[in-house]
Amino acid sequence: MRHLLSTADLDSAAAVHILDTAAQMAATQSREIKKLPTLRGRTVVNLFFEDSTRTRISFETAAKRLSADVINFSAKGSSVSKGESLKDTALTLQAMGADAVVVRHQSSGAPHTLAHSGWVDGAVINAGDGTHQHPTQALLDAFTIRRHVAMAGAAGAGAIGQLDPTGRDLAGLKIAIVGDVLHSRVARSNVLLLRTLGADVTLVAPPTLVPVGVEAWPCRVSYHLDEVLRDQQPDAIMMLRVQRERMSAGGAGGGAFFPNPLEYTRGFGLDARRLALLPEHAIVMHPGPMNRGLEISADAADSPRAVIVEQVANGVAVRMAVLYLLLAGDSAGSASTAGSAS
Ligand code: CP
Repeated sequence: MRHLLSTADLDSAAAVHILDTAAQMAATQSREIKKLPTLRGRTVVNLFFEDSTRTRISFETAAKRLSADVINFSAKGSSVSKGESLKDTALTLQAMGADAVVVRHQSSGAPHTLAHSGWVDGAVINAGDGTHQHPTQALLDAFTIRRHVAMAGAAGAGAIGQLDPTGRDLAGLKIAIVGDVLHSRVARSNVLLLRTLGADVTLVAPPTLVPVGVEAWPCRVSYHLDEVLRDQQPDAIMMLRVQRERMSAGGAGGGAFFPNPLEYTRGFGLDARRLALLPEHAIVMHPGPMNRGLEISADAADSPRAVIVEQVANGVAVRMAVLYLLLAGDSAGSASTAGSAS
């Protein structure tokens, strides 16, 4: 594996290999000595053109736990505000010797450009680009579902290990992804990865927040949340943030109209009543940051079924695995993903 740009580049063997490696990383984190020497002498650059709390901190934590040196770059307060281009920013960071560049950018395709431009020599990891992809978020979501739901029958919830040698670890699981699908790179990344792992995915959204061409996605689409909860009994429900910053009051600039908050919550918000419609084992997920009271009520966000904080913790293990596989090389992983993302 040379870069990680999209979940579309991962076949089931590659995805399971990352998840299994993440499980090993998680196991090291529960021991007393958290820091591994694996990436000593390597440099990871976090290149963030868009705001982030979870992803940026978790990549930094992951790199440090593998003993890499970390350079954090945030566009705010940098020469980007003076008009410096992505190319010149990348060349500057490359001159400082980056072995991996973790990039978040408001433009879909920016990490792809970086990976294929020759501006940087190191591995490029997509930490979220526009409305396109957020592959490590999807991997940490799959990791969380795997630990909670898929393994519950076999070894008890929370167990770690390999599930299915065919790589269809989530086969037969029903996952509902609910909300602002139109602007969500998390939804796009998850639909592809969860399908690759065998899950049955349903997107639930108001018609105005469903992207054109969704019929071609490998999932079902519904406009009725109560129906999906009652009839499908999903094993996991993933609530999406309403991305107000990508919307406008008049729907101008390629964005969508901002929905009426009361109507949105009534139709698509997860609250205590809807929580009660879910099967007992179902988990509640959200990539964060949450709009409490809009797409998810405090009852639901803080309920014992919510695994939202655990998703964040799992993100460190998943990102350790990705950095390890990209920078320390791994023949088993690269065999299954060779050329896929390069
Ligand atoms: N889930 C996620 O990408 O969160 P941040 O924007 O805080 O990184």
